Amino acid sequence: MAKTAPRRSDQLADKVSEVTGKVQGSQAWNSIFRPGSIFRKGYTDSPRNRSYVIMNSVLYHLHPVKVKRHAVKVSYTLCLGGLSFFLFIHLTVTGIFLMFFYRPTAAQAWDDIYALETAVAFGLLVRNMHRWAAHLMVISVFLHMARVFYHGAYKPPREFNWVIGVMLLQFTLLLSFTGYLLPWDQLALWAVTVGTNMMGYTPVFGKQVRFVLLGGFEIGSDTLLRWYVLHVLMLPFVTVIFMAIHFWRVRKDGGISGPL
Ligand code: HEM
Repeated sequence: MAKTAPRRSDQLADKVSEVTGKVQGSQAWNSIFRPGSIFRKGYTDSPRNRSYVIMNSVLYHLHPVKVKRHAVKVSYTLCLGGLSFFLFIHLTVTGIFLMFFYRPTAAQAWDDIYALETAVAFGLLVRNMHRWAAHLMVISVFLHMARVFYHGAYKPPREFNWVIGVMLLQFTLLLSFTGYLLPWDQLALWAVTVGTNMMGYTPVFGKQVRFVLLGGFEIGSDTLLRWYVLHVLMLPFVTVIFMAIHFWRVRKDGGISGPL
């Protein structure tokens, strides 16, 4: 019987599987996907590979292999910790947008904010999203703390995570306060005047604390630069580190506390 020529679609399928096999067998591919990954060549659905999937994935790793039934109920945590985290991410994204249009000098700051509201596409919207999310984050972190307290989750073995949480509350408030100066309007100037004067009453080091925060003896361009760097770099940086420790401890302390 005469041989029929292979169909074009079969040829294409063979070519695709040959290339896929080469890519999946390459060192570069296997350096990205760890053993047990479903994207690796020859993955089989075995108990060993299933546990590898959990152990090697950072996202799955956030959750323990077994989760208590009450812990997945939204009514237990009200997702307030998760909401605080979501707001932080939202503030980071909208904050980066704002940074494209803002220069932290006394001569330009207010004009840049004004231009952002009147001349930049979506500027007013994104600025307001940033501002409202900041207010909401203060509220959600505070409510999260109240929920944790109500459930007695500050008790052993979670005392350390409570302390990390208190630090996160401080950073959230400081982020709000440092952001408040940046529009360089009357409201901001007087809020910072009152705030730094209060810090000047710190026992023993009061004058030095005030000097460091103002970048001099009175509010000026140096103060704005200092608070800008604190707001966009230093405070978000330490907050991310503390959040990582916070989430890791929730996991290591045996997941969510309770039930009551
Ligand atoms: C930026 C601020 C914060 C973020 C993003 C955050 C995030 C989270 C998340 C996602 C959880 C998992 C359960 C849940 O959603 O409730 C959690 C649990 C916890 N948080 Fe926070 N948190 C923050 C601030 C705080 C504060 C201010 C405190 C207390 C002073 C605190 C103490 C705790 C404790 C003790 C747990 C374990 C709760 C339990 O086992 O029931 N956190 N946090």
